[in-house]
Formats: sequence, structure tokens, C-alpha cells
Amino acid sequence: MIKHQLVDVFTPTSTAKVTFVDRLKEDVNIRLVRALELPGNQVVIYGHSGSGKSTLLENVLYRTYEKQVNTNCMKGMTFEEVILDAFDQLQEFYVSEVTNDKKTKVDIKAKADYLAIQAQIGAVYENVDGQKQVRMLPPQLTPQNLGRLLGQSGYCWVLEDFHKIEGEEKDKLAQMMKVFVNLSLKHKDLKIVALGAVNTARQVVKSDKEMRKRVSEIHVDLMEPEEIKEIINKGCKALNIKIDDVLQNDIVRHSNGLASICHKICYLMCSSAFITETLDNTLEFNIEDLHKALSEYVKDEEDTLRNAFDSALKVEKVEPTLRVLVAQEPNGAHIEDLYQYAKDNNIKVSKKKLKEDLESLVKEEFGELVKLEDNSQKYSFIDPFYRSFAMAYFEEKDNRVKRNRPNDKELIELLNKAMRIVKVSYSFEELNME
Ligand SMILES: Nc1ncnc2c1ncn2[C@@H]1O[C@H](COP(=O)(O)OP(=O)(O)OP(=O)(O)O)[C@@H](O)[C@H]1O
Ligand SMILES: [Mg+2]
Repeated sequence: MIKHQLVDVFTPTSTAKVTFVDRLKEDVNIRLVRALELPGNQVVIYGHSGSGKSTLLENVLYRTYEKQVNTNCMKGMTFEEVILDAFDQLQEFYVSEVTNDKKTKVDIKAKADYLAIQAQIGAVYENVDGQKQVRMLPPQLTPQNLGRLLGQSGYCWVLEDFHKIEGEEKDKLAQMMKVFVNLSLKHKDLKIVALGAVNTARQVVKSDKEMRKRVSEIHVDLMEPEEIKEIINKGCKALNIKIDDVLQNDIVRHSNGLASICHKICYLMCSSAFITETLDNTLEFNIEDLHKALSEYVKDEEDTLRNAFDSALKVEKVEPTLRVLVAQEPNGAHIEDLYQYAKDNNIKVSKKKLKEDLESLVKEEFGELVKLEDNSQKYSFIDPFYRSFAMAYFEEKDNRVKRNRPNDKELIELLNKAMRIVKVSYSFEELNME
């Protein structure tokens, strides 16, 4: 039996390999491979945070590209920093001359260009506040030139969390994508794969007819119960542990379509049982092990949840809107459907107020609880786990309201209580109805 380390099997915070499951829906694997193979075609992969975009890409990218440049976009990053990040990573190819199957030789002219720009970067520094030195983009390092250098290297450029770049910088990135699309007519290997970039990418694609033909948009859905179960089963096999069907169904329910939650629960179950690697003798888990893991899980997430909900409740009279949203599928619903649901269920909220609330809840200052998916125009909780929590919160509140109406202070208390209940049983169906 191969010995696996627990950290390599259940990977809540990194991409999965040992437990990687092929995605069932819409042949997303095949579509992605095809999109990557098509010369000159650019790729946008989008979907819920934690839906498995990075994992999917990592598990299919190697089939087409031997090497890639990975740029993790972060809030506040400038366009220049993004360009420099990619440029720096090309050093391996142009300076260390680490070549790959596709490129057995480094183009002399391209190498000279690279070195010239590199020398320029070394020379151009700007003093900010007379202290910090900021690297400046030399005039030669245009998007065109970066594109050519990338194209020559045969590396693919993966832009993770493309959407985190804001404002003007985002527009510049969008423009750059266009430049790359044009360049890729000549440099067949040149490819950007943008992850998570729903809105930004669509803006670029929509604005230009030529772009539409040359950008594949691939949506990664939340996971189906069978997919989550397959992760558990693969993990069990790798570690020589047993999780029976009843427990698996529970884990599926708590995961709410997010593989990361499944990985974390399974990880916590194992680590509570002091399992760090593949066992010599099979061990079977029971319901208590699961409950222990769930309460650990909520403890870990508590601060994030509490902060998000505290912020959301700052939106005036937001409750009806949250109630409507909670009642939908984790993938969310269109504004029309939300309004229809409110009408059908006697929840008093106008369409206008519903829309305003949702628009507020998307914002960071109100907890960023909600997201609007650009393609489908569906509103949903940004993380299905928030939805579970909101359900528990309303369950608890309704029980209380039957006795007396809470004021604002009590509302916060209720939130805290819901937190504690979630912590103990975690499951809203099992709430004590006292
Ligand atoms: N196909 C899969 N098989 C097994 N586990 C997976 C699969 N896809 C994702 N996971 C697991 O789910 C979690 C989230 O995956 P990943 O980081 O790829 O999502 P993401 O969509 O890139 O998220 P983000 O938008 O936050 O970057 C990780 O714990 C990963 O190990
Ligand atoms: Mg990712």
C-alpha cells in the first residue's frame, strides 16, 4: 500500500491531486482541454470561490503546457506589478535557459530583448515618500513585448483571481487581453488563462466581436453530491479509513456543493483521531467523530461568519431580502424569481428594495455576503456555508419571535446564539425547538 500523508490527501486550502475527481457536468474537463489546445484561443474559467477552478486547471494544464507562469492577483495590485510579475518569472526560460519539450532552443533575438528590458528594470526605480523604492515599468516592457516574450517561451500565463484587480488597473488588464488575442495570431502558443474573472472578462469579450470568437468561457459548477462522495471515497482509500454512507451523506449536506468544506471536515476528522498518514489497519469513523470535526470547523470559521453577518445587518431592514435568498438553491436565483418567491410566500419586500439590498450585500462594507453572477444574472450567497448559517439564524429567530419581538440589541444576541447552536449541533434541522 502506498503511504500518503494526510495533508496531501485532504487539502482544504490547496489544489487536490490524490483525491482529484473528474467533474461530471457538461464535460467541463474535455471543454477545458480543447480550449487550451486550440492555438490562439484565450481561456476564462469562472465560478464560485471554492468550486474547483484552480484544481481543475492544474489537473489538465500539464496535458497541453509543460510550463506556465502563475500570477496571483491581489487587491490593490497595479497593472505594472502584474506585468512585472510575469516578466520576472520568464527569467527561468531566458536567463537560466530551462527549456521545455516544445521549445528546445531559446530564440537569440528574444533573449537579447529580455536581457535589455531586465537591465532597464534594474535601472528604473522611483522613490515614494523619499523612502520606499518602487520598481517601474520600463517603456520597452509593453503588453505587446511581454506577449511576444511569453509566446516565444511557449509558457502559458495563468492569472489567478483576475477580478481582484480594481478600477483603472482592471481596464488596463482588459486592454492587455485584447492585445494578446491579436498577438496570438502570430504566436500560437500565447495563451492567458484567467481564473475567477467573471465580470472583467465578459466586459472584454462583449466589447469586441473578434474577442468573442477567440475566448472560451468555462463555468465550473458547485459540486454534485456524487462528486463530493467520490472525494471522500478516494480519501478513504488513500488513508485506509472508512466513512460509511450515512456519514458521507451528512458530510455532503454540510459541504453544500463546496469541495473545500468536505476536505476540511474529513481532514479534521482524521486529525482529531491522530491520523497523519495511511494507516496499517483500517479505522472506521462514527457519528461522534463527525460531530467533533464539525464543531472544530465552525470554531475555525466563527470570526469570518460573525463579521460578515454583523456587516450585513447594517443594511436597513435587510431581513426580508435575506430570507428570500436563503430559500433558494445554493446556486442562487434571478431577481424576477426572487421577487416571485417573496410574493408567493407573503414576504413583504418590493422588487426595488430587493434589488437595492442585494446590490448593497455584494459590497465589502456590508459583509460581501452575496454575489451576482454576471452570465446568469443570478444572486446567491458568496459561500454556500453562509447560506447554511443564515438558515440557522432565521430558524432560531423565528422561534424567539413567537415569544416576543426582538430589538436591535437582541438581534445581535440572537446572531450569537445562532452561532452557538450552529457550533453545537451545526444542523438547523436538528434545532431544539424549545
Ligand atoms: N475536482 C476536485 N477533486 C477533489 N477536490 C477538489 C476538486 N476541485 C476542488 N477540490 C478541492 O476544493 C477546494 C477548492 O478548490 P480550488 O482551490 O481549486 O477552487 P477555486 O475555484 O480555485 O477557488 P478560489 O476561487 O477560492 O480560488 C480545495 O480544497 C480543493 O482541494
Ligand atoms: Mg483558485
